[in-house]
Amino acid sequence: MTVQQPNVLVTGATGRVGSEAVRLLTAARNPARALVRDASRAPHGAEIAVGDFDRPDTLDAAMRGIDTVLLVSPAVPAQEIAVIDSAVRHGVTHIVKVTSKASADSPVDRRRGQARIEAHLLASGVAYTLLRSNAYPQNLFALAPMVKQTRGFLMSAGDGRVGLTDARDVAAAAAAILTAPAPHAAKTYLLTGPELVTYADVARELTDALGYPVEYRRTSPEDHRSVMILAGLPEPVATSNAQAFGLIAQGDAAWLSDDVESLTGDRPRGLHAFIAENLGDFA
Ligand SMILES: NC(=O)c1ccc[n+]([C@@H]2O[C@H](COP(=O)([O-])OP(=O)(O)OC[C@H]3O[C@@H](n4cnc5c(N)ncnc54)[C@H](OP(=O)(O)O)[C@@H]3O)[C@@H](O)[C@H]2O)c1
Repeated sequence: MTVQQPNVLVTGATGRVGSEAVRLLTAARNPARALVRDASRAPHGAEIAVGDFDRPDTLDAAMRGIDTVLLVSPAVPAQEIAVIDSAVRHGVTHIVKVTSKASADSPVDRRRGQARIEAHLLASGVAYTLLRSNAYPQNLFALAPMVKQTRGFLMSAGDGRVGLTDARDVAAAAAAILTAPAPHAAKTYLLTGPELVTYADVARELTDALGYPVEYRRTSPEDHRSVMILAGLPEPVATSNAQAFGLIAQGDAAWLSDDVESLTGDRPRGLHAFIAENLGDFA
């Protein structure tokens, strides 16, 4: 029996999107190679390439024999640019990049960073697909300890609505594209969940599911930034988070699209199901 060699490389394969993409590709018998820093944490079913975005030699080793890359990472520009450059050196034909509401003049540092990466990808000449996602409900896990301890959470998104996109639906969209990438070249998909929700809706869903009141404690982005820094977040991350929450309050994340369903054939997951599935984390 011949063993099919993987022709898809998934970066960030221990992360939320990458691990699910590997799982889906493996289940669809489309073998993937998983780039991981620690082999013991690699997802099952994939060939493993141990590597680090900061070590181009490890990226080059991971790229051998690869046609298509799913580029997902914390999106530090120099690191993703290193992956793109390595892919170019190895004749990769298509890169599917997970990104956000990137723009070169965004007040949010990490969105400007994403714009730099996107510009580099477009200039590389490799066929590309951008998966521009709204915020992930998985971010709510960061609030879980506070919900557990205080039956409430602090947030600076006001009454802004968000088209929360489950990271697993981002992975499903990516896996669908990676299976037959050519028709998706030079396309940008907007990935969102099925509905617009506010953090008051999050509090209401948690209240209903847990059976006791969970309070949404509103604060300003400035105060929220200080609280996040006190809680141990690195300052640049806290600053970007607070800026993004402030933008959400102004309606910046109130966008929806049908792209998840058109790509995967399935309705995207909503907030209610997400909380029901993960209630143990908040209880
Ligand atoms: N969170 C949101 O709401 C949101 C919304 C829209 C778009 N996005 C985009 O989604 C992407 C993040 O996806 P995600 O949530 O799946 O990421 P994630 O769960 O934070 O995972 C990050 C992955 O990158 C790996 N990694 C970090 N540094 C590395 C290095 N130096 N070398 C090799 N691997 C490294 C991590 O490996 P380790 O396990 O070894 O750390 C992990 O596998 C970003 O582009 C972000 O802009 C996020």
